[in-house]
Amino acid sequence: MGKGRSIAITVMNLNAIKALIQDSLDDVEDVIDEQLNSPVSLIKEISTHLIRSGGKRIRPMLVILVYHAYGCEGRADIMLAAALELIHAATLLHDDVVDNSKMRRNEATASAIWDNSAAVLVGDFLYSRAFQLIVGVQDFSVLSMLASSTNIVATGEVLQLQNRHNPDISEDNYIDVLRYKTGALFSAATQAGAIAALRPEEEIKLMAEFGEALGIAFQLADDRLDYCADPETLGKNLGDDLADGKITMPLLHALKNANANDKNFIRQAIMTGDRESLPRLQQIIQACDSLNYTSMLAKRYVEKANNCLQILQDGPYKEALSALTDLVVNRQA
Ligand code: IPE
Ligand code: IPE
Ligand code: MG
Ligand code: MG
Repeated sequence: MGKGRSIAITVMNLNAIKALIQDSLDDVEDVIDEQLNSPVSLIKEISTHLIRSGGKRIRPMLVILVYHAYGCEGRADIMLAAALELIHAATLLHDDVVDNSKMRRNEATASAIWDNSAAVLVGDFLYSRAFQLIVGVQDFSVLSMLASSTNIVATGEVLQLQNRHNPDISEDNYIDVLRYKTGALFSAATQAGAIAALRPEEEIKLMAEFGEALGIAFQLADDRLDYCADPETLGKNLGDDLADGKITMPLLHALKNANANDKNFIRQAIMTGDRESLPRLQQIIQACDSLNYTSMLAKRYVEKANNCLQILQDGPYKEALSALTDLVVNRQA
């Protein structure tokens, strides 16, 4: 390649994407901080423990990036981005109770430090705080959209609970769980960006599809990491899905492709939720190439997400959204 003809194919990493919208992200953190105030000290203590322990802030990033990708330069995205992160935080507090998880963001979970009651109740506080924020925005369409989205997230968590310890669920049923429990909030974030940018209905719908596909890919990556990540990088314990009797894509694929003996082992492991089975399951998953299959499936959803981005104008924000879709499947944490 001749001098001066180098092609700009360097893909943005998460920090570069954040740098592009740093001012907005800082404002979002300020809004979140304000919202954690309460005369009840335990509320601030628990919510600060979770919210200040890190987190990638993907959902607020999606709101802000979509809003700017539509050429908007105002601040109509900030409150919505903060609300999305508060809802996310609420679902995490509840989720760690439901999943009996002890580690998140490299810290002990709120339910482990305090107890389940405290985690559930502060989760409720954050949920309702988010809706107070949204009501303050005075846009009925965004309120209506978020009311539906949070209801779908709850539906997904219950559907997953209903499937617990059941090795016979279909791939379609499993993907529906991902669509509901994770796709819905990603989709809410991307729709919120488009609504804040005052885009027409068809474009909001396309952004909804973008977020949903991205969320499904994101959760497939999460389900894969639960079998193969470095726990310190992930910030969570491995094997939480198994211990909870949750059958996810790596095991669903192995269940189809393993020999009869191993199939039986997987079925037993899911039915008992025995964490001790993890090392052998990891070997079976390896032998069946199930982690690669899971990545391949996630990439299909990323492609779908990327197709939805085509209506956006070329520029740094579209590029950042596109880079985010790749990061979602290649992430280690
Ligand atoms: C965790 O979400 C819950 C899932 C949907 C898998 P994130 O991986 O976005 O969590 P944080 O906010 O970065 O910790
Ligand atoms: C996270 O789901 C909670 C929601 C999506 C509502 P998971 O239970 O699969 O995620 P982690 O692994 O605990 O973060
Ligand atoms: Mg969990
Ligand atoms: Mg869960």
